[in-house]
Amino acid sequence: MKVNQAELMISAVSQEQYPQNGLPEIALAGRSNVGKSSFINTLLTRKNLAYTSSKPGKTQTLNFYDVEGRYIFVDVPGYGYAKVSKSERAAWGRMMETYFSTRDTLRGVVMIVDVRHLPSSEDVQMYKYLKHFDLPIVIIATKADKVTKNKRPRHMKQIKETLEMDKKDSIVLFSAETGHGKEDSWKAIKNLV
Ligand code: GTP
Ligand code: MG
Repeated sequence: MKVNQAELMISAVSQEQYPQNGLPEIALAGRSNVGKSSFINTLLTRKNLAYTSSKPGKTQTLNFYDVEGRYIFVDVPGYGYAKVSKSERAAWGRMMETYFSTRDTLRGVVMIVDVRHLPSSEDVQMYKYLKHFDLPIVIIATKADKVTKNKRPRHMKQIKETLEMDKKDSIVLFSAETGHGKEDSWKAIKNLV
C-alpha cells in the first residue's frame, strides 16, 4: 500500500488526550528498542515520522498517528528495559491498562519481536495480556536482515511455539532495513481492521 499522508496527531499521557474521531485503530507493542517506531516509519514510508533511537526507551508516550485519514496507528512505549525505576514501570503498567481496557476503537495489535532471539518471558506475558482483552494480534518478527535466510524458518517456528500463538493470529517476517515483509505486514494489518 502506498501511503500519501501520515501525521502525528498527539503524544498522549492520559485518556482525555486520546483522539476521538472514531477511526479504526492498531496499536504497536513490543520490547523496548525492538524496532516498533522503525516498523511504523517503514510502513508509512517516512524516515523519521516516529522517532527511533539506538538507545532503548525512546518512546515514552502513546503516540497516535493518523494514516490517510483511514486508520490510527499507536506507537506504544516498549517494555523490558532494565534501567527503569519501579515507579516508572508502575506508571507504564497503568498507561497500558487504561489504554487496552478502555479503547473501543482498537481493532488489533501488532506485536513486534526480534527474529534473532526467542521471545522473552516479558514478550510471552505481553502476548497473553493482549489475548485476555480478546484482541487479534499480528506478530512481526523484525530485523530479518540480521539472520541468514536458511535460519529464518526455524526462528519463526520457535517464536510461534514460545508465544503459544493462537492459530487465528498471523506472523510476518520483516526488516525495516530492507523493507522485507512490508506488503505482507500491510495485508495482515488490513485483516485486523
Ligand atoms: P523504543 O521506542 O525505545 O521502545 O524502541 P523501538 O521499539 O521504537 O525501536 P526503534 O524503532 O527506535 O529501533 C531501535 C533500533 O533498532 C534502532 O537503532 C533501529 O535502527 C534498529 N532497527 C529497527 N528495525 C531494524 C531492522 O529491521 N533491522 C536492523 N538491522 N535494525 C533495526
Ligand atoms: Mg519507539
